[in-house]
Amino acid sequence: MASVQIRKYRDEDAEAVKELFTLGMSEHVPSSFMHLLKQPLTQLVLMVLVCALLTSSKSFLLPILAATLFLAASRQSVVFMFNRYIDASIKDDLGNISETYLKRKESCFWVAESEGRLVGTVGCLPAAAAPACLELKRLCVCRSHRGMGIAKALCATVAEHTRHSGFAAVQLQTSVVQTDAQKLYENLGYVRTKEFSAPGFIASVLNFTLFEYRLDLDTDRKSD
Ligand SMILES: CC(C)(COP(=O)(O)OP(=O)(O)OC[C@H]1O[C@@H](n2cnc3c(N)ncnc32)[C@H](O)[C@@H]1OP(=O)(O)O)[C@@H](O)C(=O)NCCC(=O)NCCS
Repeated sequence: MASVQIRKYRDEDAEAVKELFTLGMSEHVPSSFMHLLKQPLTQLVLMVLVCALLTSSKSFLLPILAATLFLAASRQSVVFMFNRYIDASIKDDLGNISETYLKRKESCFWVAESEGRLVGTVGCLPAAAAPACLELKRLCVCRSHRGMGIAKALCATVAEHTRHSGFAAVQLQTSVVQTDAQKLYENLGYVRTKEFSAPGFIASVLNFTLFEYRLDLDTDRKSD
């Protein structure tokens, strides 16, 4: 990994962390929109709309206009869903990282720095529903620094911290559209343990599935 240092979060990193997270999440809007277009319900609504307008108006213009409007509104719904998630995350833990992650010794937040610039983030907290696990959160690497092993190193830092703190496993959640992240976790030995629908109306229409992954530290030493 080229000249990248992983260190604990400091308060002066706050804005850069929020910016990286916002960019990292927003980049999933196009793939989520494509995911929406692949859903049978979306295709059915679009087809019924076009056919109904075509037969009732006997013109091509109205169905084309309606289909364009439908697609634009669908894309806006995806943007809205991501913006809401970003805002909620910033209001929740990312709005006060020191308070959320650095007050208890089992939690932590790290950043990856390259030439004085923040290029990656990751945090961990005790998993709410699994007392033996720490939850890996907010993994993100700046686009310009991808493919250099930074995420791998950040995950290894979390695994090391988890083992050191006496927890048996690392747990995390990712989504159906975060395919790079899925490959990363599977490559590191994480096992998919659960699939469930993301909360919210738009997410359910979108069939936006979340995946839970787990790395058992007793049996898997790959991330050492
Ligand atoms: C997922 C993410 C963190 C990966 O960061 P990265 O620094 O590029 O990852 P690394 O260079 O450490 O790659 C490690 C492994 O991940 C997998 N991987 C990462 N990006 C990949 C891609 N584009 N295609 C295929 N595999 C990929 C590979 O297995 C890779 O190992 P290899 O290089 O030995 O093949 C980054 O793409 C990102 O920040 N995405 C946006 C935010 C996000 O979705 N975060 C996940 C939250 S759950």
